[in-house]
Amino acid sequence: MRAYDVIKLKRDGGVLSEAQIRWFMDAYTRGEVAPEQMSALAMAIFFNGLSAPELGAWTDAMLRSGVVLDLGEVPGIKVDKHSTGGVGDKISLPLAPAVAAWGVPVPMVSGRGLGHTGGTLDKLQSIPGFKVDVTVEHYRRQVHDVGCCLMGQTRELAPADKKLYALRDVTATVDCIPLIASSIMSKKMAEGIDALVLDVKFGSGAFMKERKDALVLASTMRSIGEQLGKKVTAYLTNMEEPLGYTVGNALEVVESLEVLRGGGPPDVVALTVALGAEMLWLGGKARDLAEGALRMRQVLSNGAALEKFRQITRAQHGDVRALDDPSLLPTAPHRHTLTSWADGFIGAMDAEAVGLAAMDLGAGRARAEDNVDPAVGLVLRRKVGEAVKAGDALVEIHHRDGRGLESCLARLRKALVITEVAPVRQPLLAERLGDAAPGAWASHP
Ligand code: URA
Repeated sequence: MRAYDVIKLKRDGGVLSEAQIRWFMDAYTRGEVAPEQMSALAMAIFFNGLSAPELGAWTDAMLRSGVVLDLGEVPGIKVDKHSTGGVGDKISLPLAPAVAAWGVPVPMVSGRGLGHTGGTLDKLQSIPGFKVDVTVEHYRRQVHDVGCCLMGQTRELAPADKKLYALRDVTATVDCIPLIASSIMSKKMAEGIDALVLDVKFGSGAFMKERKDALVLASTMRSIGEQLGKKVTAYLTNMEEPLGYTVGNALEVVESLEVLRGGGPPDVVALTVALGAEMLWLGGKARDLAEGALRMRQVLSNGAALEKFRQITRAQHGDVRALDDPSLLPTAPHRHTLTSWADGFIGAMDAEAVGLAAMDLGAGRARAEDNVDPAVGLVLRRKVGEAVKAGDALVEIHHRDGRGLESCLARLRKALVITEVAPVRQPLLAERLGDAAPGAWASHP
């Protein structure tokens, strides 16, 4: 086979065979197909797309470029969740232990924050000692013994994706739905799961700004899952404003612990319960989504989910005392309060701008190799729809010696819109795409 012929076929709108796709991906991973040839093919895919069978073969080839974890010795249906990323999205922290508390194994390989979006690994690492770079063997054992492991991407999982993603980043081929869908699904399918729940976000703080694009991405990922023999349910969720009241790593851990103690912000609880209900249903531990939701609320309020999070933290060398004593988590030395400049309502809160404001303080990273400051971040004192009076606190800024404070404030003043009338709020859970499940799923106002 020749790379030239494969590129030309896709450039001219043709359909690649499974053999061509496997050969090309394999040769690229081994360094026999040159980066410029893969770039050309990625651009041809950008313009001409991939059919469903091509996409299944493309994803399968990427996932087989490395180790495909076998969790066969772990009893039960293994279920994970993937979110396409947002601002203040700390859902994995309460969700994974709550689902595992019901006996559904949750093998979760998570990512780091980039740009305005946060990442689960950065949040977990703000717990002193918490280790996310565990070995594959540790991961397998922990999923078996504890029921859940929250680890970072290893070099063995889908290496072709890592190589290709870096290439797409510099060749303007990141924002291409078939390439995004296959990239995400190849990593998830390598984890050893049986089923997956996707939280595909849309809105200002999301990767997909438009709901229609999120819908295409979600459907594409479901179709890949189906071809690879996995059950996949997707939720489209609104990311116009941050989730919960905190943005910043240690602050988000504190808020997640509130959810694990039966409290927490209504939007974080609603999303945790909805996604968890789906995971329990897919994992065979709930007869329908209503029972799944009830079970999620039970373990969040009776301490079972918190106890599971303790076990996970201990197994990953984290200091469990920090779960009961937030003063053991990193804390920023200074606070500054942004107050309201008018009477009215919070009409809108641009999630992307809030994420960038937190990044100004050092809470996020611009490039993959940057470090984050776990202590800094934002505590929102008001959310969209709430009434304010001039002088009321809008955002508490946790900063380190003024680093980034001025630009953070400037962004927040633009991000928060104060209106005279209360805005019409959009539902958080906009749509469910999945096999017909008995029981209703509740959209959250
Ligand atoms: N996230 C991924 O993992 N891959 C993409 O291509 C885009 C976002």
